Amino acid sequence: MTVAGRRLEPVLAPERIREIVLDLGRRISEDFRGRRLVLVGVLKGAFVFLADLARALSIPVEIDFLQASSYGDDTASSGRIRILLDCGIDLRGKDVLLVEDIADTGHTLKALRQHLLAKGPASVRVCALIDKRERREAETPLDYAGGVIEEGFLVGYGLDCAQQYRHLPGVYRLVEEAQNGGERT
Ligand code: IMP
Ligand code: MG
Repeated sequence: MTVAGRRLEPVLAPERIREIVLDLGRRISEDFRGRRLVLVGVLKGAFVFLADLARALSIPVEIDFLQASSYGDDTASSGRIRILLDCGIDLRGKDVLLVEDIADTGHTLKALRQHLLAKGPASVRVCALIDKRERREAETPLDYAGGVIEEGFLVGYGLDCAQQYRHLPGVYRLVEEAQNGGERT
């Protein structure tokens, strides 16, 4: 399909995402039953995933968000992360689940995990809807991953390209168009 002038190829249908989220919800509920769990979503990309994941849990949780940006070029994160918005809930003694849309180079998750650990929680675990491995540079634990996608730039279900496509209910790969704009036969 074509949205905002770009061709999109389906990667995860909404029904498949639903299955993934329900499965993650079951696992996380089992692992944290009886604990004090705080979900910390990474804005903006994780807002859809966190909303669905929270409702797939059968345990009580607190919910907060933070927002980060990476310095450097805008196609791959540089490893130097700046916190634009910090979470406000007191995390001391609680278990934290950092909820992210996608792990790409891994720099953001690594830095945010360390940032959260410094606040004195009982534990920090990391959950990403998509584990994209082609550009992984930073080694950091990914405790819960929805799906592994080998390559491509993905949009939809919170994921954006220049702030577009976050509203789409599925995940899509952006198809690179030929530079001359013409279709080859
Ligand atoms: P990192 O490279 O693992 O640090 O990822 C940094 C951020 O880049 C992620 O939180 C996403 O917001 C964004 N990102 C990485 N890959 C994609 C993608 O395929 N589509 C949309 N955003 C992405
Ligand atoms: Mg993000």
